Amino acid sequence: MIRLLDQYDLTAYNTFHLHSTAERFFEFTETEDLLLFLRYEGLGERHLILGGGSNMLFQKHIPGLVIHPNIPGIVEVDEDRNQIYWEAGAGVEWDELVDRAVKFELGGLENLSLIPGKVGAAPVQNIGAYGAEIGERIELVRFIHLESGKMMELKGEDCHFAYRDSIFKNELKNKVVITSVIFRLDKFPEYKLDYGSLKAEVEKLGKTDLESIRQSVISIREAKLPDPKVIGNAGSFFKNPVIDLDLARDLTAQYPHLPVYPLGDAQVKLAAAWLIDHCGWKGYRKGDAGVHEHQALVLVNYGKASGEELIDLSHQIRNTVQAKFHVLLEPEVNIIG
Ligand code: EPU
Repeated sequence: MIRLLDQYDLTAYNTFHLHSTAERFFEFTETEDLLLFLRYEGLGERHLILGGGSNMLFQKHIPGLVIHPNIPGIVEVDEDRNQIYWEAGAGVEWDELVDRAVKFELGGLENLSLIPGKVGAAPVQNIGAYGAEIGERIELVRFIHLESGKMMELKGEDCHFAYRDSIFKNELKNKVVITSVIFRLDKFPEYKLDYGSLKAEVEKLGKTDLESIRQSVISIREAKLPDPKVIGNAGSFFKNPVIDLDLARDLTAQYPHLPVYPLGDAQVKLAAAWLIDHCGWKGYRKGDAGVHEHQALVLVNYGKASGEELIDLSHQIRNTVQAKFHVLLEPEVNIIG
């Protein structure tokens, strides 16, 4: 199936629920559809690849072509003693895949429950939560290389996965469209319960298995993070900043409660949420743009905020954090327009 539309309204295609119009919009459900499109229509001057729109902030008008891969399907492609390999289409809802793996008692995805978005976007920013990152589970990524119009693939170990980062955000940025991903799932799962309150939450349920971990992650997320179906948001707006040890020492001397996570010998990662919170932003609202009341890292659209208003708010937040802590916050969401 393909759909090719001009001046297409993207409100339903971004979890911030921002009104935005794509100059041209191309949705497809089979790899071949995009290959044919490239051959006969061509890419044009500008293009954007859009998955679930759960990590994007749209301005009013998106010039050029928006490509929306919507390839369905989850199939088992291989099996060995300890693992099963599932290939999922780029258009599969991420949480549907997690749910299915948990139901089949296959481990590896459960800590990543309830993350919004589609399978095709998961490798791009190496989605992560509660002590797990998807890069650890990716066997292979298949994609179309736009310039050559050829199908290609990359092994997980060659995707340069790092904190919210991969080759798809760097060398291959905008050059490829991911069509499917092969995941490595464990038949004999080892549980990861070390992050924050996860273990305590699982213990409340009285048993430790994939289903109870999934339910616990869902409860923690629902308590802290706004449901994008109800309040427009794109999860964490900024990345957790990485700083040098010297600055970290100065800051912890001044702010003994500052959460600090060691990263190698010379750097540490800080909690952006804590920094923003301690600049007094949590619960702030101006018009329909605001900072979530339970998670200072999440900017929200209460109704009719524009992308421009949210960008403006993010600049104010970044400036106050820089002035108070000398730390520069980088957006995690992609600003488009
Ligand atoms: N904190 C505050 N104020 C707040 C919220 C948190 O001071 O308003 C403090 C907490 O007390 C904690 C620290 O900040 O010490 C970290 O908070 P949390 O555990 O909630 O995690 P996070 O670093 O804010 C990251 C991911 C989330 C992911 C959670 C859980 C990033 C940018 N964000 O948030 O991912 O769900 O960990 O693993 O790495 C996303 O990417 O969209 C996302 C939601």
